[in-house]
Amino acid sequence: MARKLKPLWPEPEPLSPVVTEEQARQIANIFGTPVYVYSQRILEEQADKALAFPNAFGLTVRYAMKANPNSNILKIFAKKGIQIDASSGYEVRRAILAGVPPQDILLTSQQMPDNLTELLQQGVNYTVCSLNQLDQFESRARSHTKNKLDISVRINPGLGSGGTNRTNTGGPASSFGIWHEQIDEVLFMAKQENLNINRIHSHIGSGSDPEVWKKVALMSLKNVKKFLDAGHNVQTLNLGGGYKVARMSYEKETDLQECGAPIKEAFEKFANGDIGRALRLEIEPGTFLVANAGCVIARAIDYKKTPKYNFIITDSGMTEVTRPSLYGAQHPISVIPYQDPRFIISNMRLGRFIVSGHCCESGDILTPGKGDSEALQEREILAPSKITGSLVVIGGTGAYCSGMSTKHYNSYPEAPEVLIDKNNKAHLIRKRGSLDDILKNEVPI
Ligand code: LLP
Repeated sequence: MARKLKPLWPEPEPLSPVVTEEQARQIANIFGTPVYVYSQRILEEQADKALAFPNAFGLTVRYAMKANPNSNILKIFAKKGIQIDASSGYEVRRAILAGVPPQDILLTSQQMPDNLTELLQQGVNYTVCSLNQLDQFESRARSHTKNKLDISVRINPGLGSGGTNRTNTGGPASSFGIWHEQIDEVLFMAKQENLNINRIHSHIGSGSDPEVWKKVALMSLKNVKKFLDAGHNVQTLNLGGGYKVARMSYEKETDLQECGAPIKEAFEKFANGDIGRALRLEIEPGTFLVANAGCVIARAIDYKKTPKYNFIITDSGMTEVTRPSLYGAQHPISVIPYQDPRFIISNMRLGRFIVSGHCCESGDILTPGKGDSEALQEREILAPSKITGSLVVIGGTGAYCSGMSTKHYNSYPEAPEVLIDKNNKAHLIRKRGSLDDILKNEVPI
């Protein structure tokens, strides 16, 4: 049974900056609902902030494409000079198909792709993430070169930080990367296999506390020293992504300038002191680049009342935005009255609502408790007295929504994606799916 929580936020959240009310109505009329909408302007603004990350000896920004892999978004970032962090062999192929040069892709994956040899031959860079991967890497890579092989190694530095436990990828409860106390084993294996470790990688979680992130960055520099001392030509330290964004108005976006300044200093010290190595910095933001550049426009299809709650039912939910059901993630929600002469703005009033999705599943909730997907938390929402038919805009849905949805659950087809360009023109960048798409791989016997 869901527990009842008091609303934490007495004020309604503002409308997502991705659309105006008028644009939202137009897009809903043209493309239908639910629909994902992205703003090129905001994507580029976030890209510029990431590219200005403080650095001492050069910076590579890699877009963690798992956050939103649509080729149009990859192209916007590629044009800005942003490279790619891929998390599967399929993502690598998707990036190459979008026109990203293989040399600009770093694959860091729990699963080594079957076609790794082919990807390496094309110039894709690989980060080994376990001792087993390290062992396998040599045989996969050796077929295309007899020279000393350069590789990147992901280290679990022993400490992590995420917006929730489920998005923390450092420390003993995380299986990502090679545990830092196994560095001696890495050095031994690398020697046996004639490998040069040229990049150390760590990513400690999503929505990380900037203080923990800074601490881990300094710990990672110590790890780099161990590899340099053993004779490896480490050129780059990749500190992963995880930078917070403010989806809700009470949240605070990580200030990249503030976060990066002490790291820049530490890199300078590292270069000017005994160690004498000028390292290139790499960062891999996903959320930071896309989360607030996207919203979902849905429609209120029903309104129901129980003795405890007022429910707004939408034609979206976990089929487009799974994060609330999965992590108790908070997304701003606003209602835009349907343009109908019967609804006049003076009809709008503040109410406390639970907003739910259209799936036959009580977990399909857009207003869970904060970090507690099993709880319900009412939201203050400004809505017309007859809410059915209104548009419901779910903000902060540019990252880990279209790429991480439970599409096809209850056999709902995939929602379309629309990009608003810098001249305010809306382009369809992914079509709405159909029942045929859902059935196409089914095999009748
Ligand atoms: N680098 C690596 C190796 C990663 O695994 C990730 C994310 C990133 C960079 C980018 O992290 P970001 O800047 O987006 O926080 N589904 C969760 C996030 C899981 C992220 C997994 N790895 C969410 O919806 O918040």
